[in-house]
Amino acid sequence: MKRIGVLTSGGDAPGMNAAIRAVVRTAIYKGMSVIGINRGYNGLLNRDVYEMDLRSVSSIIQRGGTKLFSARCLEFKEEAGVLKGVQACKDLGIEGLVVIGGDGSYRGAGDLSAHGIPCIGLPGTIDNDISSTDFTIGYDTAMNTVMELVDKLRDTSHSHDRCSVVEVMGRGAGYIAVNTAVACGAVEVLCPEKEYNLDEIIEKMQASRKIGKQNFIIIVAEGVGHSEEIAKTIQAKTGIESRATILGHVQRGGSPTVRDRVLASRMGNYAVELLEKGIGNRVVGVRGNTLVDYDIQEALKMVKPFDDDLYDLTKVISI
Ligand code: ADP
Ligand code: F6P
Repeated sequence: MKRIGVLTSGGDAPGMNAAIRAVVRTAIYKGMSVIGINRGYNGLLNRDVYEMDLRSVSSIIQRGGTKLFSARCLEFKEEAGVLKGVQACKDLGIEGLVVIGGDGSYRGAGDLSAHGIPCIGLPGTIDNDISSTDFTIGYDTAMNTVMELVDKLRDTSHSHDRCSVVEVMGRGAGYIAVNTAVACGAVEVLCPEKEYNLDEIIEKMQASRKIGKQNFIIIVAEGVGHSEEIAKTIQAKTGIESRATILGHVQRGGSPTVRDRVLASRMGNYAVELLEKGIGNRVVGVRGNTLVDYDIQEALKMVKPFDDDLYDLTKVISI
C-alpha cells in the first residue's frame, strides 16, 4: 500500500489525536503517504481531505478532541453512501483506511471493506462499550475527569452533610459508572446492567446516617438517568439534603492520560502494520496488555462482560 487514509468518527474521545499521530508517523516511516479525512465519513463523501506530513501531527499527542474533527454521517448508513465512499477512496488513491470510532464507525468500516477498501477500526470512545477490546481510547481519561470532578463535589457535599447524585456518561453501558463509583467512594452505583431498588438504597443511607455517615455520593449512569428525580426522592424520604449533578460533555474533553496516550499510540502503529501487510476488515483491541485484531463482523457480535465483583465492592466498602 502506498497511500492510506485516516478519519475519526462518532463521539470524540481523548487520545484520538495520539492515535492519528501514530498512524501518520508509522505510515510515513514505512514509506506510505497519509490522507487525513475531516469530520468522519462526511469528509470522505465531501472529499474534505488533505495530505498529512510528519509535522502536521506535531504537538497534538497531549490534546483532547480530534484534529480531524468528528461527525455522525447518516448518509453513510445507506448502501448508496457507502458506494459513494468507495468511489471517493478510489478517486483519491486511498488504498486502505484507519477508522477511529465506536461500534457505528466499525459498521461503516466493515461496509467499506466489503466493497474492496481494506479498513482497520480503532476503538475510540469514552464509553468502553466495545466488546472486542478490554479498553477503548479515551475511557481512562474520562474516568479520571469524573474522579476529579466528584472529588470536588465531595468537598461541598461533605461541608453541607448532603447527598450528591452524580450522573456520568457511558451511553447504554455502566463501565465508567462502576469504576468511578469505586474510585470516588460512592455508596451506590446505578447502572443499566443491574436492577436497583431506591427504597433499599434509602434504608441503607438511613442506617449509615445513624452510625455517623455525613455525606453520600451516588453515581448514576446516563443509561439509567433520572438523577434529578432520584435526588428529590432521597431528600423527601430521608430528609438528607440532596443535589443532582449531570457531568455532561466535560467528560469527553481534556488532555489524555498516560494510559490513553500509550494505548492510542500502540494501536495506531498496529493498524498501519496490518494495512502494510494488505490486511483489512479488522478491528484492533487490547487483551490484558497485548494488542489483538479481529474480523469486523465477528467483533461486532462479541458481548462484553460486566464486572460484577467491582459492582459488589461498592456495597461492601462504602457502608
Ligand atoms: P460510534 O462510532 O461512536 O458508535 P455512531 O453510532 O454515531 O458512533 O457511528 C458513527 C458513524 O458511523 C455514523 O454517523 C455513520 O456515519 C457510521 N455508521 C453508523 N452505523 C452504521 C451502519 N450501520 N452502517 C454504515 N455506517 C454506519
Ligand atoms: O459515546 C460517547 C458519548 O459521550 C456518550 O457517553 C453519550 O451518550 C453520547 O456520546 C453523547 O452524544 P452527543 O455528543 O451527541 O450528545
